[in-house]
Amino acid sequence: MGTQEPYPIDVEAIREDFPILDRKIGGDATTPGEGPTDDAPLVYLDNAATSHTPEPVVEAIADYYRGYNSNVHRGIHQLSQEASVAYEEAHDRVAEFIGADGREEILFTANTTASVNLVAYAWGLDALGPGDSVVLTEMEHHASLVTWQQIAKKTGAEVRYARVDDDGTLDMDHAADLIDDTTEMVSVVHVSNTLGAINPVRRLADLAHDHGARIFVDGAQSVPTRPVDVTDLDADFLAFSGHKMCGPTGIGVLYGKEHLLAEMDPFLYGGEMIRRVTYEESTWEDLPWKFEAGTPPIEQGIALATAVDYLDDVGMENVRAHEDLLAEYAYDQLTAFDDVTVYGPPGDDRGGLVAFNLDGVHAHDLSSILNERGVAVRAGDHCTQPLHDKLGIAASARASFYIYNTVEEIDALVDAVDAARQLFA
Ligand SMILES: Cc1ncc(COP(=O)(O)O)c(C=O)c1O
Repeated sequence: MGTQEPYPIDVEAIREDFPILDRKIGGDATTPGEGPTDDAPLVYLDNAATSHTPEPVVEAIADYYRGYNSNVHRGIHQLSQEASVAYEEAHDRVAEFIGADGREEILFTANTTASVNLVAYAWGLDALGPGDSVVLTEMEHHASLVTWQQIAKKTGAEVRYARVDDDGTLDMDHAADLIDDTTEMVSVVHVSNTLGAINPVRRLADLAHDHGARIFVDGAQSVPTRPVDVTDLDADFLAFSGHKMCGPTGIGVLYGKEHLLAEMDPFLYGGEMIRRVTYEESTWEDLPWKFEAGTPPIEQGIALATAVDYLDDVGMENVRAHEDLLAEYAYDQLTAFDDVTVYGPPGDDRGGLVAFNLDGVHAHDLSSILNERGVAVRAGDHCTQPLHDKLGIAASARASFYIYNTVEEIDALVDAVDAARQLFA
C-alpha cells in the first residue's frame, strides 16, 4: 500500500475497507446498527478493546459460510477437506506472522484470556507448588493477573509484582530482584493497555531463562500494533486476540515453544484432540491439535489468517509508525490542558493509546459527553483495577488508535474534551 501525508500509510485507502467508519452516532442506541444518519460522524478510538474488520476479512467469513462451511479434521467429503486445509493453513500463516517455527507452535483458542488460562492450568497446576514464585508486573491485565493469582492459590506458589515507577514504566531493577531461583514463570504484558508502556520483554526473557524460569508474554496490545517475533523475544509463550487486529471475535492465539507444549498435558479433553480411545485409556493427537478439543473456531481461524494478510500488506513497521504518530500527537494535545492527566510514559515512548482523566469529572461522564459528539473511547479500569488503585483513581478514559485513525479524529477528541472542560468549569 502507498502512503499519504503526514502518514506512513495510505489511511484514506484503508478507511475505504472499513464501511463501519461511515456510521453516524446519535439517537436511540437500543437498536444495533441503526443510529440516525444525520448526527455526529463516528470517531472510533476504542481499538485497544476491539478493532474493526476490513472488507476482505468480512468476505473471508462470508465465503466460508457460502462456499465450504463444514467441520474440520473428521470428514472425507470435499467440503470438510476444503475447510480442514484452510483451517490448518491458517495456523501456518499465523506462525509465519510472529516468527514461530510452524503450526505445531500455534494453538487457536477463544481469546487472550483463554490462552493464559490454558497455560496456567495445563502447565501451572502441574509445575507450581509451595516455594515457587510467579513474577508479574503491577501493570498486568486481569486476564493474566487474576489467572496466575488463582493458580497460585491452588498450588501454594507465591505471586510477586514488579513495580511500576512514577513515570509509568516498569522498574527493571525491581523485576531483576524479584526473579530468582524460586521463579518458575514470568508473565508480562508487552504493551500495557492502560499506560501504553512498552516493556523490555527480551531483557525479561533473559532474566527468566538465567534462573531456569519461563516467560509468558501477553501480546494482546503488541501483536496488532507492531512487528512481534517470538524468536527475537525468546518468548516461551505468547498470547493475543484476533478481534484486536482486524480479525473476528471468538479467536485467540497461544504460541508456545514446541518442546514446552509437547511436555504439557492437554487442557481440555474430548473429541478432535485424541488419537486412540479405549474405555480405559486415551492418547493424544499431535501438536497443535492436542490442545484444540471439540469443534474449533473454524471460520474465525480462517478469517484471522486473512486479517494477518491484510496487516502484512499494510506492513507491521508502518502500522507501528502510524500508531507512534497518533500516540505522540494525542499525548501532546491532551497534556496541553492543565486539568487533564495522561497516565504512562511520554508521547514518543508508548504504544498507540492514551488513558487520561479530566480533573473533577468521572471518566464515565466524560466519555458520555464524548459519545454525544460521536467520539468512542473506553471508560473504566480497563481490566487493571490494582494499577488504577496504585494510581489513586477509580477509572480513566482511554483513547486508542489503529490504522484507520487520523490526526483530524484526534482533533475531534481534543475538541470534545475541551467542550467537557467548559461544561464542568
Ligand atoms: C493487555 C491485554 N491483555 C489481555 C486482554 C484480554 O483480551 P481478550 O478479552 O480478547 O481475552 C486485553 C484486552 O483488553 C488486553 O488489553
